[in-house]
Amino acid sequence: MHVVASHPFAGQQPGTSGLRKKVTVFQQPHYLENFIQAVFTAVPALVGATLVVGGDGRFFNLQATQTIIKMAAANGVAKVIVGAGGLLSTPAASALIRQRHAAGGLILSASHNPGGADGDFGVKFNSANGGPAPAAVTDAIYAASLEIDSYRTVASADLELDKLGSQQIAAMQVEVVDPVADYAELMASLFDFAAIARLLAKPDFKFVFDAMHAVTGPYAEEIFTRRLGLPSQQLLNCQPQLDFGGGHPDPNLAHAGDLIAALAGVGEFALAAASDGDGDRNMVLASELFINPCDSIALLAANAHCVPAYREGLAGVARSMPTSRALDRVAAKLQLPCYETPTGWKYFGSLLDAGKITLCGEESFGSGSDHIREKDGLWAVLFWLNIIAVRGLSPRQLLAEHWTEYGRDFFSRHDYEGLPSDDARSLLADLHQPSQPLVGRRWGALTLLQLESFTYTDPVDNSRADKQGLIFTFEDDSRAVLRLSGTGTSGATLRLYFDRYSSDSAQYWLAPQQALAATIAAISELLQLEQRFGRHHPDVIT
Ligand code: G6P
Ligand code: ZN
Repeated sequence: MHVVASHPFAGQQPGTSGLRKKVTVFQQPHYLENFIQAVFTAVPALVGATLVVGGDGRFFNLQATQTIIKMAAANGVAKVIVGAGGLLSTPAASALIRQRHAAGGLILSASHNPGGADGDFGVKFNSANGGPAPAAVTDAIYAASLEIDSYRTVASADLELDKLGSQQIAAMQVEVVDPVADYAELMASLFDFAAIARLLAKPDFKFVFDAMHAVTGPYAEEIFTRRLGLPSQQLLNCQPQLDFGGGHPDPNLAHAGDLIAALAGVGEFALAAASDGDGDRNMVLASELFINPCDSIALLAANAHCVPAYREGLAGVARSMPTSRALDRVAAKLQLPCYETPTGWKYFGSLLDAGKITLCGEESFGSGSDHIREKDGLWAVLFWLNIIAVRGLSPRQLLAEHWTEYGRDFFSRHDYEGLPSDDARSLLADLHQPSQPLVGRRWGALTLLQLESFTYTDPVDNSRADKQGLIFTFEDDSRAVLRLSGTGTSGATLRLYFDRYSSDSAQYWLAPQQALAATIAAISELLQLEQRFGRHHPDVIT
């Protein structure tokens, strides 16, 4: 064992989803090693236990995997389970941690952020339940990173990560596993694959999936083509690449151009879907129909009886606070508890572990269930296919039916990227203590009824998270939510979320920007973003 002297780096504090930085930051000598050593210091349960390691295949994934395995051997880990080629999608890693009773996992990904030598990299520690480590653990990792004076590793040749089976490094066993097999089995155990295969074989139904040159390619080939019989030309961009083919592996309307093109001229009985860099996000589309993630999770919950795994009913549901309240309406009808959590999948973990919820979802293109402790892109796509197969309706018909039953919650998110961090933080601070009252005043055409800073108390372990976003509620019950992103790597990204409910069927097919125009205008007058930041328009609208 080697003990290598080192010194702390500033800023190794995990964000919404692990430590995410530019590749060039991670490539600094000792930078990755320090953070990994901080994990071993903060999580003593890893000694003598099993650790799962894998990532989304982006630039630096392989080198980091080799580094981590050697450090695990030097830190007393009994066994590392690693996906062949260093690959594991985030949901597959979560499943593997649970199936193999590992003490945790290190997932190498910067999710939907661009990759390549100039792109982003990230490391996320997941706990024994398979989910993102809770704040108490990430705080301990950060604290350890600030005190570090050395890290441990072993001198050894690189592992053969393409060879399935067991290898030995010092006293530690390394098992290289097929990254896809167990996950595909898990999906087959949840959904009605026979019904989905029949749907995919119908000449009048078209399904296209875009893996965006990211990790879900091999998973999609196994599940959709080999198990469900989909012609391989209906899978796009399935070869994982170090730089995701130069694109953003981000499934939204701005970045999934290939998918939108594949839908051209296709009829209404169709579904197109994409997943992100590490496979936990999903976007579903039909021809000329973008299905907002807030509507998607609500519709999945309302139709969960179509899926074998959820046929017996749901224990409860949850959504993150900025996500629209469409899910709450389904929960009320089904008489289910509905929880509102801060942004970040880690907050669903204790509710899932305690059996309080079965399904959960977020506006940020994530949905999932108690089958693992991460959101799951392919799971969501299979869920949609299973519903369409059983109901025999097109996505448009399903949404129309849903809105007729529950009304529509219009939703949109506006992102302002690359803002000076200090200025963005001081905007939030000013709003927490405004110099003059904002509530009760008219902004644009709307009076502001309430301004609240979201605080969450976990109903299972009573842990508290405060300042999780500002909620502006207007007289028409529309909401605007303001928070800073915790996943960016340069400057600050300000996120503004808008939602408004309507039960007027004449409005259901309005464009969200139009339906939300009054709330958007009100908040723009209130926040004065133009004066503060010189920004006239958001950089991204979802
Ligand atoms: C990651 C987390 C999600 C979260 C999203 C948004 O994807 O897994 O749970 O909703 O980041 O994060 P941000 O802080 O950038 O809005
Ligand atoms: Zn992701």
